[in-house]
Amino acid sequence: MTTESGAAAVIVLAAGAGTRMKSRTPKILHEIGGLSMVGHAINAARGINPEALAVVVRHERDRVAEHLSKISPDALIVDQDDIPGTGRAVEVALDALDANAPLEGTVVVTYGDVPLLTSELLQELVATHNTDGNAVTVLSAVLEDATGYGRILRAEDDSVVGIREHKDASEAERAITEVNSGIYAFDAAILREALKKITTENVQGEKYLTDVLGLAREADGRVAAVVTTDRWQVEGANDRVQLSALGAELNRRTVEAWMRQGVTVVDPNTTWIDSTVRLEEDVRILPNTQLHGTTTVSRDAVVGPDSTLTDVQIGQGAKVTRTHGSGSQIGAGASVGPFTYLRPGTVLGEVGKIGAFYETKNVTIGRGSKLSHLGYAGDAEIGENTNIGCGNITANYDGEKKHRTVIGSGVRTGSNTVFVAPVTVGDGAYSGAGTVIRKDVAAGALSVNVAPQRNFEGWVIANRPESESAQLASSAQETSMQGDSTEEGN
Ligand code: UD1
Ligand code: MG
Repeated sequence: MTTESGAAAVIVLAAGAGTRMKSRTPKILHEIGGLSMVGHAINAARGINPEALAVVVRHERDRVAEHLSKISPDALIVDQDDIPGTGRAVEVALDALDANAPLEGTVVVTYGDVPLLTSELLQELVATHNTDGNAVTVLSAVLEDATGYGRILRAEDDSVVGIREHKDASEAERAITEVNSGIYAFDAAILREALKKITTENVQGEKYLTDVLGLAREADGRVAAVVTTDRWQVEGANDRVQLSALGAELNRRTVEAWMRQGVTVVDPNTTWIDSTVRLEEDVRILPNTQLHGTTTVSRDAVVGPDSTLTDVQIGQGAKVTRTHGSGSQIGAGASVGPFTYLRPGTVLGEVGKIGAFYETKNVTIGRGSKLSHLGYAGDAEIGENTNIGCGNITANYDGEKKHRTVIGSGVRTGSNTVFVAPVTVGDGAYSGAGTVIRKDVAAGALSVNVAPQRNFEGWVIANRPESESAQLASSAQETSMQGDSTEEGN
């Protein structure tokens, strides 16, 4: 049963081939704003809380079905047969939805390749349809160039009488600029009856869903249109030029929505935020920043410039500068960058630091610990308030397997320390510069293993006699000898 504002079902049409994409990937699986086009269509549909959701598939059926089962496991996947056309697509979907008991109430039809349609507009369509007791309500738009679209036919009194496909239209009908978006609300019973009468007798030899409007009117149903002024919401992506235009517009809308919710975006034109990203008030995003996937940014954090973050959780007040990161967590008040590469499994504790030219992977860093410059930390666990010196490296790979490095709290490591994993360094331990730690270091111990330094006096002059180095060395020696004699003179 359908409530005043509700829909019994949404049917998403997604059986078409999409040849103009020139792609081995089915058209509706192409992504904008971090979701496939069909993913956006499903989100819009879900937003009006239909009792059932069906997606009609055919082209690249298995790949599309696999994707759907991931993003929307409870959607009913319906296979379209050999009979072509949007009318046939809806007919097979309705048959499937009717399997237990005939559907009653409002059935909404949308397309899998119209990614900017919002739940709000769908809701408005359904509300008008339900309140006015319509048989069919079509979402239409007035376009400057209506070429290719079905045209909305209206009577003298302006009431909608039907839709004429571009290919079937007369010259006069082609002059009409109000077009069919392909998105509709139908009364289920009227739709079911009308679909039975639809034939393939038209220029394209397809069962046209658009013929339902005329049939509904003949059956004394009210047919009406909701005209949207927002053309982007009804625009489909047929090729990659349109895909990128829709992607840019979606991003513009997403960025603007976040600004209205209290996020500072210094340069909206170079900021890309997926639909799936979540931001809090007083976050600042600096130019050239891309936030993808399940990335979340908490209050007062600053991200950018020049950062690309995918599935990264950023804590309150953290700073992330010129960083490429994925699958990582950055604690409150922590800082990352510039020029830092965070790979999956990086967990940086509160007020910790991963500095310039660092690569991290699968490493847990405790509160207040700092890895400030030039290094690699992978498959490791570092305690709290530890300072990892410049140029430290966890040698985690022995050529066959990965091993773990465990470093305690309050540790201070010298520059260029190498941890040959598996190895453990106890709390409060120190290492000297250049130490290669192959054996565990006990808590509080100092570890050094660099050989004593030996200087071979005169080696360059003896072994590289003609070189510039040798000449400079000779001069330096002479100068120092003169200095000595002057001193002697005094
Ligand atoms: C259709 C409408 C047209 C409207 C236009 C808006 C019909 C007859 N015409 O035209 O009035 O202006 O959309 O874009 O409905 N699909 C299937 N099975 C099919 C055919 C299509 O699932 O057998 C799906 C496609 O995947 C696509 C949608 O339906 O998502 C529309 O198909 P498309 O061929 O693009 O529609 P048009 O014929 O251009
Ligand atoms: Mg077509």
